Amino acid sequence: MKKVTITIAIIAVLTTSFLLFFNRNGAFAKESDATYVPGKKCRVCHIKIYKAQDKTPHANSYENLVDAGEETNEACLPCHVTGYGQPGGFEDAKSSKGLAGTTCQACHGPGSKHVEKGLSKEQRKETIQKTPKDACTKCHKTHEPHPDIGVKSLPSLKKEMERLQERINELEG
Ligand code: HEC
Ligand code: HEC
Ligand code: HEC
Ligand code: HEC
Repeated sequence: MKKVTITIAIIAVLTTSFLLFFNRNGAFAKESDATYVPGKKCRVCHIKIYKAQDKTPHANSYENLVDAGEETNEACLPCHVTGYGQPGGFEDAKSSKGLAGTTCQACHGPGSKHVEKGLSKEQRKETIQKTPKDACTKCHKTHEPHPDIGVKSLPSLKKEMERLQERINELEG
């Protein structure tokens, strides 16, 4: 009797792990395949886009957190850096080269498969998302109040307003 119970228990455990394993690999296959890579890796082959991206507000989204004194706040990092909490993604400014700010992989997803050596042009296309469905809305959410920017961010807002005022003065001559 005991042997039968043990055998059934073992089969149950094995079946459950098997199902869990498959479910994971099925449902998250695309996401778990690739991991985030240092931002500079995208530069080699996409230099023009890289330089253009560097001039957008997205490039400064981490610096704005620093100005606001919120660069370690977990509530802020998911939108203001790249791949926060994901394999290979941003951990801190020192160890995560080129992932501070809203950079390439924040929109296109993790790129480790895409940057592998010796791929054909077609394979490059297959290994990265061109236009993910939620490319913008995962961070730019409508009718969602900005999570407690709070008084700490006032200095950076003030700086930005001064910059805009200077620009207005410049345009008005
Ligand atoms: C070794 C060279 C190389 C590197 C490094 C590289 N790419 Fe690419 N990438 C290509 C090629 C080749 C194509 C496809 C051909 C084309 O569209 O010109 C491509 C296409 C793309 C596309 C468009 C896909 C499509 O469906 O048209 C995106 C988005 C992209 N790359 C993002 C990235 C990102 C993000 C990184 C950094 C993680 C990166 N690339 C690094 C070579 C590279
Ligand atoms: C990973 C999060 C994230 C994604 C994805 C994202 N953004 Fe942003 N975006 C931000 C953050 C954070 C800022 C604020 C940058 C700063 O600190 O000034 C911003 C700023 C901007 C601004 C400037 C707004 C202003 O008031 O100056 C524009 C325009 C913009 N994003 C457009 C887009 C578009 C279009 C897409 C999709 C193609 C997109 N964003 C995807 C996070 C994101
Ligand atoms: C859901 C995504 C998301 C989260 C979470 C988030 N932000 Fe933002 N943040 C954005 C976007 C998108 C913008 C740019 C659009 C805008 O100005 O509304 C932005 C803009 C800002 C700006 C203004 C930059 C400028 O140029 O004026 C500051 C400062 C800021 N965020 C700080 C924070 C802080 C501090 C937190 C955490 C308490 C935080 N953010 C959390 C998405 C986010
Ligand atoms: C704010 C989100 C966002 C960021 C950041 C971003 N991209 Fe894109 N990218 C897009 C969108 C949206 C498209 C247009 C896709 C389409 O036309 O379907 C695109 C298109 C592309 C293409 C296709 C070819 C082209 O010129 O249209 C390549 C290659 C590419 N991006 C590479 C990069 C690289 C490399 C970086 C970083 C230097 C980067 N992207 C940063 C959103 C982003």
